[in-house]
Amino acid sequence: MAQQPRVPTAADLAAQTPEEFWEGLYRQRADDAAVWASRVNPLLVEVAGESAPGAALDLGCGTGGDTLWLARRGWRVTAVDIAPTAVERVAALGRAEGLCALITAESHNLARTFPSGEFDLVSAQYFHTPYELPRASILRAAAEALRPGGRLLVVDHASIAPWSWNQDHDTRFPTPREIYEELALPATEWVLERAEAPRREATGPDGSTATVTDHVTLIRRASAQPGP
Ligand SMILES: C[S@@+](CC[C@H](N)C(=O)[O-])C[C@H]1O[C@@H](n2cnc3c(N)ncnc32)[C@H](O)[C@@H]1O
Repeated sequence: MAQQPRVPTAADLAAQTPEEFWEGLYRQRADDAAVWASRVNPLLVEVAGESAPGAALDLGCGTGGDTLWLARRGWRVTAVDIAPTAVERVAALGRAEGLCALITAESHNLARTFPSGEFDLVSAQYFHTPYELPRASILRAAAEALRPGGRLLVVDHASIAPWSWNQDHDTRFPTPREIYEELALPATEWVLERAEAPRREATGPDGSTATVTDHVTLIRRASAQPGP
């Protein structure tokens, strides 16, 4: 069973850059095979499972469960994370499964740089960090990187699980509509397709279970209009 990382204190956070913090977290877990690519996020399965494979971008790919799941189904995936250890490990897992032609793994601090390319699906699953992050501008760049007809799926925590680092029960989680509106995308081209708050049974890193709520924001870029 994967061991739960220690909850970071304010002093831990202040003493490190975001790169150092996330890299340190993944290095602590580098030898724990149970952690890596072990789980795909259920809402990605629900959304991507209904489409033909194309080009996907996994923002904040972490331990790679989503990237590997997509690549096994024929998607060409660009997997991006701030932590080089995570990125290297996801690339290695892809090679081990003979999927290296389908996976491009890149280290980016998305606050500064964004991967190149055009995508049929961009997925940001629990793209949360305890550091300042210009999330709206990153997600806007993601929406602009969609091909016509492509979709941006943003899945966020909307409740506090017993294993969450944040145990502030007064936390207000932005709604899917607020997330969409914050991107300030022209509604003629980027349409809010799903704005939901489903509940599900989740398993924490220590193996315990709890009912949690997610916020699901699914935005579709309009298909290209046929020429005259
Ligand atoms: C809560 S984890 C979610 C990981 C994965 N998507 C999942 O569902 O398990 C957030 C991820 O975002 C990455 N991350 C945090 N800040 C980032 C940034 N500025 N640029 C790129 N990745 C970042 C972290 O390294 C971490 O892997």
